[in-house]
Amino acid sequence: MEKSPLVTASTLVVCLILSLLSSISNAATHGGGTHNITSILAKNPDFSTFNHYLSATHLADEVNRRRTITVLAVDNAGMSDLLSKHFNIYTLKNVLSLHILADYFGAKKLHQISNRTTLVSSLFQATGAAAGTSGYVNITDIRGGKVGFGAEDNDGLNSYYVKSVFEIPYVISVLQISHPLSSPDAEAPTSGPGLVNLTIFMAKQGCQGFADLLRPSKALEVFEHNVAGGLTVFCPTDDAVTSFLPKYKNLTEPQKESLLLYHGVPEYETLQMLRSHNGLMNTLATEGANKFDFNVKSKGEDVMLSTKVVTSTIVGTLIDQDPVVVYKIDKVLLPHELFKAAPVLAPAESPEPAKKKKKAASSANSPDSADSPDSVSDDQKAADDNGSNGLNNGFRFITLLVTLVMAFLVL
Ligand SMILES: *[C@@H]1O[C@H](CO)[C@@H](O)[C@H](O)[C@H]1NC(C)=O
Ligand SMILES: *[C@@H]1O[C@H](CO)[C@@H](O)[C@H](O)[C@H]1NC(C)=O
Ligand SMILES: *[C@@H]1O[C@H](CO)[C@@H](O)[C@H](O)[C@H]1NC(C)=O
Ligand SMILES: *[C@@H]1O[C@H](CO)[C@@H](O)[C@H](O)[C@H]1NC(C)=O
Ligand SMILES: *[C@@H]1O[C@H](CO)[C@@H](O)[C@H](O)[C@H]1NC(C)=O
Ligand SMILES: *[C@@H]1O[C@H](CO)[C@@H](O)[C@H](O)[C@H]1NC(C)=O
Repeated sequence: MEKSPLVTASTLVVCLILSLLSSISNAATHGGGTHNITSILAKNPDFSTFNHYLSATHLADEVNRRRTITVLAVDNAGMSDLLSKHFNIYTLKNVLSLHILADYFGAKKLHQISNRTTLVSSLFQATGAAAGTSGYVNITDIRGGKVGFGAEDNDGLNSYYVKSVFEIPYVISVLQISHPLSSPDAEAPTSGPGLVNLTIFMAKQGCQGFADLLRPSKALEVFEHNVAGGLTVFCPTDDAVTSFLPKYKNLTEPQKESLLLYHGVPEYETLQMLRSHNGLMNTLATEGANKFDFNVKSKGEDVMLSTKVVTSTIVGTLIDQDPVVVYKIDKVLLPHELFKAAPVLAPAESPEPAKKKKKAASSANSPDSADSPDSVSDDQKAADDNGSNGLNNGFRFITLLVTLVMAFLVL
């Protein structure tokens, strides 16, 4: 009988720890929000086109990242009207970003707007691409229960509330509206923020060597194609590229392309985001369904990229202009798919998926366990030994917390 409060208390402690751990891992994987607009919209096939373009323009990431947001969704018929205007992807992104409001409007709140009309800033406004008030959306509660929507620079309201699709109060609301919002400013032709010529820019900023490799490669097109939706490039310093050249020349054309693409991530990742990432990050390099990835780690202010073959450190930022950011790194990133990590006894050509390797690695003393395996656990071990990096501090914090709670309980 005496034990039961203690049991309850320890259950509480376990729950507390679990929720802490899960919130930490959530923050690491999403960098914030817990909603996923892609899977919310996927439940209704009427929004499949809208959903597709939210992902293609990377606006979906932006929606997921934010905590107070309203998405004005348009059904497939509405989207086909919009697509018939044949906007390029940059312009389409501007138009769609007008449909994402930086405030929460549930169905109920639509009818509680003071003075029945308001202007709400959209993500188009937040990008800075909008001139004057053209990034604002006018919401007006028209008499008779109708609610109208219109871009502020549009002449009047051209779209109406249809229904509520999904709501998490004060976090995310998805409302269906009758037509895509029309805005001369958002629809203005734009070649996008890609005005920055990547190769010219890199060459000028001390990444001449990498720019030279990129210029004749198909990889450059892939980079340029990704600019609109967000692109992060890690360019190795000229010294790093020079000493790598002999190895590079040995690669086949597709391998060269993969290696270059391995230095790009199809998302805009600020240094702050990278610092809090701590985990695997997919790159633009793929091999069938297999996406080449590397591990992002931070130690104090430093951010390291670890490929299982090398660990490279970010040494500078060449440009950070949403949606493009280019960092300078001190070593060429060598994907383990193309380069072996140190001498390994394993058979040469074995494109085994990583899962199997992990198993081998966890079965302890295999000779290649030092380099091939799951680098997270390796790093974890290393960090535990040193007790000096960020991840380890997190675990120490939890241990401390547990100790405190235990002490409290004992008292
Ligand atoms: C969101 O959901 C889609 C589809 O269900 C999935 O492919 C994607 O990885 C999810 N994104 C995140 C950040 O979890
Ligand atoms: C509502 O209208 C009144 C009278 O025109 C005005 O004084 C007030 O500031 C308005 N409120 C808001 C929130 O716009
Ligand atoms: C919104 O648009 C309506 C119709 O054009 C207009 O009467 C109203 O004043 C606008 N609201 C705001 C806040 O500008
Ligand atoms: C960047 O500049 C190079 C060299 O002038 C040129 O060949 C390339 O087409 C330019 N790329 C873009 C996207 O304008
Ligand atoms: C390039 O390939 C050749 C033949 O496979 C090999 O002998 C040589 O060591 C390689 N060079 C480098 C720098 O990897
Ligand atoms: C641990 O410390 C050793 C020796 O100081 C160092 O070489 C190694 O990089 C450190 N590892 C980590 C993960 O901090």
